Parts: sequence; structure tokens; C-alpha cells
Amino acid sequence: MKLILLGPPGGGKGTQAKFLVYKYSIPQISTGDMLRANVRDQTALGIEAQNFMNEGRLVPDEVILGMMDSRLQKEDCKNGYILDGFPRTIPQAEGLDKLLDKIGHKLNYAIVLDVEQEAIVNRLSSRRSCRGCGRVYNLIFDPPEKENKCGSCDDELYQREDDKTETIKNRLKIYNEQTAPLIEFYSAKNLTQHVDASGDIHQVKANLITALI
Ligand code: AP5
Repeated sequence: MKLILLGPPGGGKGTQAKFLVYKYSIPQISTGDMLRANVRDQTALGIEAQNFMNEGRLVPDEVILGMMDSRLQKEDCKNGYILDGFPRTIPQAEGLDKLLDKIGHKLNYAIVLDVEQEAIVNRLSSRRSCRGCGRVYNLIFDPPEKENKCGSCDDELYQREDDKTETIKNRLKIYNEQTAPLIEFYSAKNLTQHVDASGDIHQVKANLITALI
């Protein structure tokens, strides 16, 4: 199974990808997570990416495509993958097509998580992530058992720099301008499946599983 999860920031791509990893035993490939790891380790790529990310702007296409070229050729991608947060622009989608041709892969689906943008600010401003293992919580919708502590590794929870209200608005604007056109791009290839992502996490999971049957 090779699929793309498309949807706005806070649409639930990361949350739902975790369920699909378990269901299909394939990796979640999140460009956001890869970039954050590079920023944390202060690699050359991370240093280049961090200002774009903190301001909610997209990292340049050539940086992302270079990163994905090597990632999709790794051994764990042989049986499939879930692309979470990539592609994000038409040039990235065109670059992905070329890369897939080169390595002989074919996409099965581009899943579109449909959710009203009003719900998103609420979801993102209450998101907290674990500094240690990266597990994602939500203070309202999926709270940790112990205040400010991860239930998996006991490390501290933090708020992402780009989850501040002003930056969220900028991310949504950029999504509408640069990423939403991908829905048409993949519809034209008959790859899109729309999933109602406005309910709670478990309802969305059920909708997603139904869409993939
Ligand atoms: P990235 O990390 O990809 O951020 P994003 O796309 O903005 O996505 P999010 O992680 O914010 O949202 P999500 O849809 O995964 O939601 P989640 O499941 O976590 O990218 C960050 C930055 O990196 C970008 O701004 C850009 O700078 C750069 N970047 C990354 N990829 C790039 C690319 N390809 N090109 C260029 N630049 C790139 O859920 C959010 C919260 O809501 C959580 O707290 C969760 O618990 C909660 N939640 C989830 N589902 C529900 C639900 N159904 N009901 C209630 N709460 C829910």
C-alpha cells in the first residue's frame, strides 16, 4: 500500500498515519518529523529549514525532494509507505511522479482528510508533543494521563513553535494557496478518496478504514 495523506495542518494526518502503520506494517514518512529531527540535531538541512518552519512557511521544494529521493529508496519502503505532509506543492507532486517512475513504484491512493478550518485552530493550539519519543497529545481531545508528561516515556511535553495562533493562520493560508490544488492534481489521476475528518479521532479512523476497503 502506497498512499498520500493530504489535508490541512491539524487535519489529523499524523494521528491517522499511526493507525495505518499498525494496520499495514508500513512506515509513516512525515517530512515534518524528518525536518524537526534535522532542526533538533542542527544539521545543515535543519539550519536551512528552521526559519521557514517557525514562520509557518514551506521549506523550498528542492530541499524536500532531495530528502525524499533518498528516503523512498530505503529498504523499509519496498512494501509501501504513508506519505504524511508530502507532497505539498505542485512542483513537489511532479517531482514525486518522476521519483516513483525512477524506482518503479505506483501510488494506490491520495487520501484527503476533510475538516472545517475553524476546528483546526482549536486542535493545533492545544497540541502537545513529547520531547523524548515524539508522541502527540491534545490537551482537549487526547490528554496525557499525567500533567505535562508523556505516558510512553515519561519525558516532558512541549508546544511546537509553529502551533502559536498567528503562525497557524499563516500555515492555513499557505495550505489553501499551495497545497489544496493537489486535490485536483490527484483527482485527475483518479487517486483521491475523501474522508470526513471532522469527528473525533476514532470516528475519523473508522471513516478512513472504510475508504480504504
Ligand atoms: P508538518 O509537521 O507536516 O505540519 P502540518 O502539515 O502543518 O501538519 P500537522 O503536524 O500540524 O497536522 P496533522 O494533520 O499531522 O495533525 P495531527 O495528527 O498532529 O509540517 C511542519 C512544517 O514543516 C511546515 O509548516 C513546513 O514549514 C515544513 N514542511 C513539512 N513538510 C514539508 C513539505 N513537504 N514541503 C515544504 N515544507 C514542509 O493532529 C493535530 C492535533 O489535533 C493533535 O493534538 C491531535 O491529537 C489532534 N487531533 C487529531 N485528530 C483529531 C480529531 N479527529 N479530533 C480532535 N483532535 C484531533
